[in-house]
Amino acid sequence: MNKKEVLEAKILEAMKGGGEKRIAAQHKKGKLTARERIHILMDEHSFQETGMFVTHRSTDFGMEKEVYPGDGVVTGYGTVNGRLVYVFSQDFTVFGGSLSETHAEKICKIMDLAMQNGAPVIGLNDSGGARIQEGVVSLGGYADIFYRNTRASGVIPQISAIMGPCAGGAVYSPAITDFILMVEHTSYMFVTGPNVVKTVTHEEISSEELGGADTHATKSGVTHFACANEIACINHIKSLLSYMPQNCEEDAPVYAYKQGNEKRPKLNQVVPESANQPYDMKDVILQICDEDSFLEVHKDYAENILVGFARLGGKSIGVVANQPAVMAGVLDNNSSKKGARFVRFCDAFNIPLLVLVDVPGFLPGTDQEWNGIISNGAKLLYAFSEATVPKVTLITRKAYGGAYDVMNSKHIGADMNFAFPNAEIAVMGAKGAAEIIFKREIESADNPAAKLEEKVAEYAEKFANPYGAAARGFIDEIIQPEDSRIKLMHVFKMLENKVCNLPRKKHGNIPL
Ligand code: HXC
Repeated sequence: MNKKEVLEAKILEAMKGGGEKRIAAQHKKGKLTARERIHILMDEHSFQETGMFVTHRSTDFGMEKEVYPGDGVVTGYGTVNGRLVYVFSQDFTVFGGSLSETHAEKICKIMDLAMQNGAPVIGLNDSGGARIQEGVVSLGGYADIFYRNTRASGVIPQISAIMGPCAGGAVYSPAITDFILMVEHTSYMFVTGPNVVKTVTHEEISSEELGGADTHATKSGVTHFACANEIACINHIKSLLSYMPQNCEEDAPVYAYKQGNEKRPKLNQVVPESANQPYDMKDVILQICDEDSFLEVHKDYAENILVGFARLGGKSIGVVANQPAVMAGVLDNNSSKKGARFVRFCDAFNIPLLVLVDVPGFLPGTDQEWNGIISNGAKLLYAFSEATVPKVTLITRKAYGGAYDVMNSKHIGADMNFAFPNAEIAVMGAKGAAEIIFKREIESADNPAAKLEEKVAEYAEKFANPYGAAARGFIDEIIQPEDSRIKLMHVFKMLENKVCNLPRKKHGNIPL
């Protein structure tokens, strides 16, 4: 073989990963190979591989006899919809995608390049964890990655797709990244697997139940997206990227949108007259935002708050909205954490925030208190207060109590606050308020029920409207629902060049 042929033969060998048999086994499980995943993710012919001939250095347990070029991870860079990204894709056909010293070095190398060149990192995870034959060297490799994930946080977007096993300490790299996507039925994440769980807590549970996509999408909130299959997962990564800038110094890309009459008369009917009747806040979002632009994040977790990306006039915004259709849109532990995490991502990456408010308050009860609603609610309050991106609020109906303050009120730095004419901004609902402040008067009345009704009406007349707040400038404008889209397009355009700096500090101390 001449030198050209030697190189060609070596490339061919690397392409085979762990060999035909293991590739067939991977396909039989309904999984794609590391290279097939990259092929679907990246623009055609754009992927440039780095470290194809890297091999492990282990000589224990006869490892020197089993060497595969690339060592279980395909790394490189290329474009997704024309924009530069860095990618690593673990190859389960080579030692189960397990992480060796050199495997970790390859991942670190592309993370360093991504940081220096300001572009997102996408990790396609499919790994049996630490390379057992390598011991502590492998653990060190993990920590090198965790360290880089943390350093890169808020500088470049980091996205993790879980497409197979992800167990033990390995889960902490995805956990530090901005978004996790899991594939239903073929991926799982847990710190300790079913066998250890059985020994320690005597619980019998399957991998799927303990840490499958559905579990993490609904119960723990660890994953932001549960995807039906690997192709859906990869396509989801592409859409997610379309809302983000390349790094914290840039703005998200601008897309064309269908222009026309921006009035949305349907919005006049969405919010019911009665304050107690539920409605779907998603209908409000869909009417306001550009057609087909809403990408919901954490769809099945803490559904009493909605978060997601959308476009308004072609530009990315982050939407945070109470959902009156679920638990009346109350704020609780999980919804506060979900909202806060999303707000911080948007703020880190210059994505303006639209906050839609219909909130009866914080959820009472021992479960909430003992699980830390004080510090969790404070996370959301802190996240909104700290955010320096354009922040706009629209109160569609209720804004009660502490939740009024927390949901991006004027007082915590919102740039522009709107309300619909039927908005109610008060310490609490009229009935509860009347029962407390007119207690004695009601009890001593000849007809307490009639008195209560009279006092409820009196309180409602005074506070169950947006005019008191507007009189103080807490609400900048009361708008007809049908004008929402027009008003918001104007206001985000007006705020486009907003500059707002935080006081000099090392970093804040969000109540974690
Ligand atoms: C080396 C590994 C490996 C590992 C799998 N393989 N995991 N090699 N180190 N961690 C190899 C297998 O020997 C096998 O090699 C091939 O990968 C495929 O594995 P199978 O067991 O045949 O596949 P499957 O039945 O699908 O099971 C997958 C699995 C299982 C559930 C991941 O392999 C497994 O339980 N592996 C060990 C997981 C583990 O305990 N890892 C360490 C966790 S601790 P051949 O040659 O047959 O193809 C950890 C700490 C990280 O990760 C801490 C960071 C701080």
